Order: sequence, then structure tokens, then C-alpha cells
Amino acid sequence: MRILLLGPPGAGKGTQAARLAASARIAHVATGDMFRQAVAAGSDLGARVRDVMERGALVPDDLTVAVVRQRLGAGDCGPGFVLDGFPRTLPQAEALDGLLTEMERPLDAAIALEVPEAVVLRRLAGRRVCPRCGATYHVDTDPPGEGGVCRCCGEVVAQRGDDQEETQRRRLEVYQRDTAPLLGYYAAQGRLVAVGGDGPVDVVAGAVLRAALGRQGR
Ligand code: AP5
Repeated sequence: MRILLLGPPGAGKGTQAARLAASARIAHVATGDMFRQAVAAGSDLGARVRDVMERGALVPDDLTVAVVRQRLGAGDCGPGFVLDGFPRTLPQAEALDGLLTEMERPLDAAIALEVPEAVVLRRLAGRRVCPRCGATYHVDTDPPGEGGVCRCCGEVVAQRGDDQEETQRRRLEVYQRDTAPLLGYYAAQGRLVAVGGDGPVDVVAGAVLRAALGRQGR
């Protein structure tokens, strides 16, 4: 199964990609997570992307595509993958098409999570993440453990740097300008499936899984 998830910041791409990867036993490929890990590790890649991410801008296409190309070649992507946060621009989508053609592994579907902007803003404002294991929480709908610690590893959770109000706005603008046009791109390919993302996590997860299974191998 080869799927990508589209949607604005806070639509639930990370939440749903993790669930789809677990239920379909495929790899979860999240460019934002990979970049954050690189920043935390202090690698060369991290040094190149840190400022861009803090501003809520996009990492250059060539760098992002190179990271994804390498990741999709890893063994755990053999049974399939769900792309979360990639592609985000038209050149990235075209590069992905080229890469998947080269690999003879065409995309099954681009699943768009539809969530109203007011909901997205509430989700981003309340999101907390574990700096050690990456688990994601929300202060209202899915709170961390007592004392604000991660329920998976016990680390104190924190707000993501780019979830500050001003950066949130910037990320939403960037989404509308650079990423929303991909909805038309995948619709024209006959690969776009829209799923309502404004419901309980389990309900959305069921709809995403049905959409993915319905498109597999078509
Ligand atoms: P990235 O990490 O990809 O951020 P994003 O796309 O802005 O998406 P988010 O992680 O903010 O939201 P999400 O849709 O995953 O929502 P989540 O599941 O966490 O990218 C970060 C940065 O990296 C970019 O700004 C850019 O600089 C760079 N980058 C990454 N990829 C790039 C690329 N391809 N090209 C260039 N640059 C790139 O959910 C949000 C909150 O809502 C959570 O608290 C969650 O618990 C809650 N929630 C989720 N679903 C529900 C639900 N159904 N009901 C109630 N609450 C819910």
C-alpha cells in the first residue's frame, strides 16, 4: 500500500499516518519528524533546516526530495508506506511521481484530510509533543500523563517551537499558497480521496483505512 496524506498543519496527518502505518503494517514516512530529529541530533541536515522550520517556511525542494528518496529506499518501505507532510509543493509532487515511476511502485491514493480552520487552530494551540519519543498529545482531547509527562516514556512534554501563534499563521499561509494546489494535481490524476478529519481520532482512522484499502492496486 502506497499512500500520501494531505491537509493543513494540524489536520491530523501525523496522528492518522501513525495509525494507518500500524494497521496496514507499512512504514510511516514523515518529513517533519525526520527534520526535527536531525535538528535534535545536531546533524548537518539539522543545521540546514532549523531556521527554516522555526520561521514556518518550507525546506528547499531539492533537499527534501533527496531525504525522501533515501528514506523510500529503506527496507521497511518494502511492504508500502504512508507519506506524511510530503509532498508540499508542485515540484516535490512531480519529483515523487518520477521517483515512484523509477521504482515501479505507483501511488495508490492521495488522501486529503478535511478540517475547518478554526478546528485546526485549536488543535495546534493545544498540541504537546514528547521531545524524547515524539508521541503527540493535546491538552484537551488527549492529555499527557499527570505532571505533563509522556505516557510512553515519562519525559516532560512540550509545545513545538513552530506552534507559537505567529508561526502557526505563517504555516497556514504557506499551506494555502504552496500545498493546497496539490489537491487539484492529484484530483487530475484520479488519485485524490477526501476524508472528513473533524471527528474522533478512531472514526477518522477508520475512514482513512477504508479509503486506502478501497484504492489499493487500482
Ligand atoms: P510537519 O511536522 O509536517 O508539520 P505540518 O504539516 O505543519 O503538520 P503538523 O505536524 O503541524 O500537523 P498534523 O497534520 O500532523 O497534525 P497532528 O496529527 O500532529 O512539518 C513541520 C515543518 O517541517 C514545516 O513547517 C517545514 O518547515 C518542514 N517540512 C516538513 N515537510 C516538508 C516538506 N515536504 N517540504 C518542505 N518543508 C517541510 O495533530 C495536531 C493536534 O491535533 C495534536 O495535538 C493531535 O493530538 C490533535 N488531533 C489530531 N487528530 C485529532 C482528532 N481527530 N480529534 C481531536 N484532536 C486531534
